[in-house]
Amino acid sequence: MHVNIAIDGPAGAGKSTIAKRVARELGILYLDTGAMYRAMALKALRQGVSPLDEHAVIPLLAQTEIYAKSIGGVQHTYLDGEDVSGLIRTQEIAQGASDISAIPSVRIKLAEAQRAVAQKNDVVLDGREIGSFVLPDAPYKFFITATVRARARRRLDELKAKGQCPADLHLAEMEDQIARRDHNDSTRAFAPMVQVPEAIYIDTTEMNEDEAVAAVLCHLPQRIGEGE
Ligand code: DC
Repeated sequence: MHVNIAIDGPAGAGKSTIAKRVARELGILYLDTGAMYRAMALKALRQGVSPLDEHAVIPLLAQTEIYAKSIGGVQHTYLDGEDVSGLIRTQEIAQGASDISAIPSVRIKLAEAQRAVAQKNDVVLDGREIGSFVLPDAPYKFFITATVRARARRRLDELKAKGQCPADLHLAEMEDQIARRDHNDSTRAFAPMVQVPEAIYIDTTEMNEDEAVAAVLCHLPQRIGEGE
């Protein structure tokens, strides 16, 4: 039996940074499940299909292969054999991923791929519904969040640091985008983002990265595979 650690929560809460560091600290794999939804959104957009158009998206699924590979500890996400890791970090793809993730057959396909990874590896998975839908039996579950304002500010700072922040993108607009995605992700009918009662709740609004990582690690065994 492999050890699976589920880290769920909304966009911008720091999940992926925390999940990556926790995985590195424990010497186990990290799987960014959002990247898989982003790759699916990219596929649809490239085919001229709206991620909201369920009837047009469904036939694409059988012709789409999405998988993730860790290279030197960094996740690379592949769409039909092409490494699309660098192409899926735009706001357009983020919204497209949120839209396409509401389609049940998309979720079923990607959740199966995620379960296959979890069955074969000790892994930290970050997503929205890992603890409730993908791996309901995971022994360790976290729900990590922060206020909309704190998350919008972090996203803006990230974009600025990468030199990708459009001059006309202001905090209020980023807050709107994040709130829209939160609403989308938590109100979809099938497998929405949800905090399961057994998940450990961590609000990172007032925490720096080290504090947030420590808040997760303190609930985990120091060495995976050797028990608590
Ligand atoms: O974590 P992210 O921003 O890369 O995720 C992009 C979108 O994908 C998110 O708004 C909702 C969807 N998603 C999901 O439904 N389930 C997951 N496990 C991960 C992401």
